[in-house]
Amino acid sequence: MSEGKRQNNSPKDSPGPRRKDHSRLTLYAGVSLFSVLLLTLSQPLSFVHVGHHDGHGNKHDDNDNPTKINTGDTPPPPPPSASGDQRDPSLPRFRLADVRKHDAKSGSPWVTSGDKVYDITDWVAAHPGGDVILRAAGHSIDPYWAIFTIHKAPHVREILETYLIGFVDIADLDTHGKPKIAAGEALEDPFASDPTRDERLIVLTQKPCNAEPAPPQLARDFTTPNELFYVRNHMWVPVVDRAEADQHKLTVELPDGDVREYTLDELRTRFRHHRVTAVLQCSGNRRSDMTKSVGKTNGLQWGTGAISNAVWEGVLLRDVLADAGLKTTDWQPLRAIEDAPQGNSDEDDDLPETDSLHVQLTGMEAYAASIPLPVALDPRGEVLLAFAMNGQPLPRDHGYPLRAVVPGFVAARSVKWLSKIAVSDEESTSQWQRRDYKLFGPNEGGAPNWDKYPAIQEMPITSAITGVWVGQKVIKQALQKGHLISSSTSSTTMGSRAEPGVRDLQAWQSDWNKSNQKTTTTPVAVTGYAYSGGGREIVRVDISVDGGRTWDQAVLLDQKDREYDDEENKSKKNIVARGRRDFAWKRWRYEGALLGDSSTSEIVVKATDSAYNTQPERHDGIYNVRGNLATAWHRVTVDTSRKTATVSGCGFDNTEDKTKK
Ligand code: HEM
Repeated sequence: MSEGKRQNNSPKDSPGPRRKDHSRLTLYAGVSLFSVLLLTLSQPLSFVHVGHHDGHGNKHDDNDNPTKINTGDTPPPPPPSASGDQRDPSLPRFRLADVRKHDAKSGSPWVTSGDKVYDITDWVAAHPGGDVILRAAGHSIDPYWAIFTIHKAPHVREILETYLIGFVDIADLDTHGKPKIAAGEALEDPFASDPTRDERLIVLTQKPCNAEPAPPQLARDFTTPNELFYVRNHMWVPVVDRAEADQHKLTVELPDGDVREYTLDELRTRFRHHRVTAVLQCSGNRRSDMTKSVGKTNGLQWGTGAISNAVWEGVLLRDVLADAGLKTTDWQPLRAIEDAPQGNSDEDDDLPETDSLHVQLTGMEAYAASIPLPVALDPRGEVLLAFAMNGQPLPRDHGYPLRAVVPGFVAARSVKWLSKIAVSDEESTSQWQRRDYKLFGPNEGGAPNWDKYPAIQEMPITSAITGVWVGQKVIKQALQKGHLISSSTSSTTMGSRAEPGVRDLQAWQSDWNKSNQKTTTTPVAVTGYAYSGGGREIVRVDISVDGGRTWDQAVLLDQKDREYDDEENKSKKNIVARGRRDFAWKRWRYEGALLGDSSTSEIVVKATDSAYNTQPERHDGIYNVRGNLATAWHRVTVDTSRKTATVSGCGFDNTEDKTKK
């Protein structure tokens, strides 16, 4: 434990940090420092201190006006009074010169915020932003947080406060009670060149950009238009000059140390092109649903829109690995089969086993992740190095000029702005592989044993409601305006209902009797999406309009065997799915009637895939502090008491937030 550290007093149920085993930290400090050095060397966007800009292009010198750093949510420290320092006397004071010694290389990084000093040694390994945090080591995090606006959330500051160890010595505070700033403690904004985003996207955080389409736009098209495809960025968007994009380099490193370099132009011209229609989905999709129904989760509060579907075009990763010369015991690339040694040769014994290897994928900005090698080699897996999305060059936000696309897997493995591939005997060492995207038990807290479980790879089944229309007239208008997806077939007629699920027969009977006494029922139309990972096809979508007591089936709109992604425009031919695999989502539509005796009805959706997996009923049992894989039945409440019916629930407005209780 480093000097000056006081007892951790974080609340027991806080999703924030807990003190961790120190021996584990040493290992990760080593990894972290190495990565920082690499980053520093390779990073084109400067984080070096460049003097303080006031947001109007004016540069200020040291001490010119240190109070101008806008920390967003940092409360101003109390000015030291004439009688001296009146801050909590139980905490030690540190000179800024001593804080500076706790830099990235020290092994016990400290930071300041306002006039407070924090020892973040134990947090570095748990930081969702990874090693980048060490850039602030020995300095103030305030200018970084002013840029990385993802930190402007109360839970982030709560985490920081658990690492408080003391205050900046009064001798280093200016007359406003703020630390005197050393030469040029302001930073260049690495997000300054980020692209402009479509205004229809709901922006969760601007820097890095995380944004999702609103429910009505989400599932209107089978393939999500590029400008509405959800954006999940971990850092800034790398700048690649269009004129030089063909020369973009991809390095491929093999287990025997051989390195091969490809330009984008070479990939495009030398390898056969392949297209696959595939969903990408963030493991945090519907996290806000879990938060609202169970409790606090630590991460971006996505609605139903951290998922989209597109036609990806590129070259197969397995072809590139074969060309680069990858050899493993049980894999010989098809194209090289004639050259393959017959039987077991001595040479074979020295080859690494396919199952023991991983393909590490690294992006240009800092992000990295990996997939098991057998996934990359699976001819039915269709893992792509993609350069086009829905017939267009990749948009900058989606990885221009080259990204990996791993169909059926969590999108965190489909690394954008791809610059390096390494086939290795270990997983990527990144935060996003070893920590961030794992699923722990409801009781395992915010600082679990990270190595206990594997990284999330194949995605589980999920579904969501994206549109609800109440009343005959409203439904008709929505159809005319194209807001409600039309279907040529309908499995249900208005007002029909299936036999009750007999879970609570008496309650159902009483509701049913009451509703039958009414002369009218309220027509309702509902639409949404369903998706399962690993290429498992959605075979059924169940809908309930009475909170899960009785069920009916929705019409599946996107059949797997359709040949065109746009039936109207047959020139836009795209392969939707092949064989037993289905990597796309299925949109669905339901028409039924709300029970007539109540002003509110709960509409519920759950889906089933080809392996007969279905979704858990509630989030309680799958709750995890990070809020990953929030896949419980999706429920929305429809209130028909007003002139225009209102809908509340994840993805819709007016949802009650349990965390505020
Ligand atoms: C002790 C100080 C810090 C704390 C407590 C902290 C905490 C956090 C938390 C809780 C998140 C996740 C937020 C969410 O998903 O809602 C986050 C994300 C992030 N942080 Fe920090 N942070 C700190 C310092 C920094 C610094 C100095 C930088 C940059 C130099 C930074 C860069 C990032 C980035 C890029 C992300 C987004 C990562 C992703 O989306 O995968 N953080 N941080």
